[in-house]
Amino acid sequence: MLSEQTRTIVKSTAPVLAEHGKTITTVFYSNMFEAHPELLNIFNQANQKQGRQQTALANTVYAAAVHIDNLEAILPAVEQIAHKHVSLGVKAEHYPIVGEYLLKAIKEVLGDAATDDIINAWAEAYGVIADVFISIENGMYEKAETQENGWSFFKDFTIARKVKESENITSFYLKPADGKNVPSYEAGQYITVRLAIPGEEFLFNRQYSLSQASRPDEFRISVKRESDNDPNGMVSVYLHENMNEGDTIEVSAPAGEFVLDTKRETPVAFVSGGVGITPMMSMFETVATQTPERPVSFLHAARNETLHAFDKDVQKYVATMDNAKYKTLYSDEPQGYITREILEDMVDASGEVYVCGPVPFMEKMISELRALGMSDEQIHYEFFGPAVALQSV
Ligand code: HEM
Repeated sequence: MLSEQTRTIVKSTAPVLAEHGKTITTVFYSNMFEAHPELLNIFNQANQKQGRQQTALANTVYAAAVHIDNLEAILPAVEQIAHKHVSLGVKAEHYPIVGEYLLKAIKEVLGDAATDDIINAWAEAYGVIADVFISIENGMYEKAETQENGWSFFKDFTIARKVKESENITSFYLKPADGKNVPSYEAGQYITVRLAIPGEEFLFNRQYSLSQASRPDEFRISVKRESDNDPNGMVSVYLHENMNEGDTIEVSAPAGEFVLDTKRETPVAFVSGGVGITPMMSMFETVATQTPERPVSFLHAARNETLHAFDKDVQKYVATMDNAKYKTLYSDEPQGYITREILEDMVDASGEVYVCGPVPFMEKMISELRALGMSDEQIHYEFFGPAVALQSV
């Protein structure tokens, strides 16, 4: 239990730290990776180069510190991050390293203003917050290990098939190299794939949504090939160009909370843009095979026909369902955008809607769905890439 004095110091200095957030985190990461380069096997180096992840971790520590009297309030946010950590193989022993370099960075940036009392208070608070993460993550690892065919950290998989879905999206069917089955997962969950790229010093990790309903013997991911110049595209380009049937790839167990609620029978709509279609395919296939009478609509935005993946698969399922609607818009064509009118026509505002796609697309869709009277409880969404800010805290 933290002392009253510690809690007061932490709460009163959190805004100051947040104000210097970017500088502190830049110093923190650069010193930490210099002392512990092995951590670059876990962190996304492209995010580091672009500064995308840099503020998320430290901002969350400050946000959590504000709630230090009532950490229960941040548990939902912790759970979401913990899924990501567990998918990446973050371990309890990493926390003291992060803590040490975060505190050193606070000291370095704030200079004399960071008195010993302040630093000690933050060290204690970090310890409490880290313990919350560690205990939730340990629980998740344990659950993954005890699940039938489950495992924790990474396991070797073989690429069983590689199937082109559109000009830039290719599916990889992955089977455990040991010949076992895979654990069951919830529609919408993702896995991390880890690979070594020749000539690169560190391993690369990327999360990909599982793009088909849970089945016993394989996973499927569907990867968009990013451009050659995009530092975040290295893995996707390598997968497309260099990974083929029979090759081995490391995979972590399914994780994530952006999942279909299969207990509901209310109308459900899936709204996706571009490669955001991948978790929708898993959810849609789950509805189509488990509750085919459920009213469902599938609304998709692609740039044009050549970049439109899974069209035939969706059509095939729609043909077998009584209450399914399907529409695709191509933004290269006139009036090719999903408008409020189209949403009104396709989405039953009394039900649930799942949204996934590029950030501007999602922002637009969410605001239009709200305008149609849907509440935040009905609108489920997932941003791909690091959560820039932790709005829920
Ligand atoms: C991602 C918070 C400790 C490794 C994140 C994210 C947050 C966060 C908010 C973004 C989540 C998202 O993208 O959805 C924290 C907090 C920590 C902590 C508050 C301490 C209390 C650690 C530790 C490690 C770690 C100890 C391992 C050394 C990562 C990695 C990512 C991540 C690799 C993914 C983003 C990337 O690769 O750039 N963390 N984290 N975190 N965290 Fe942590």
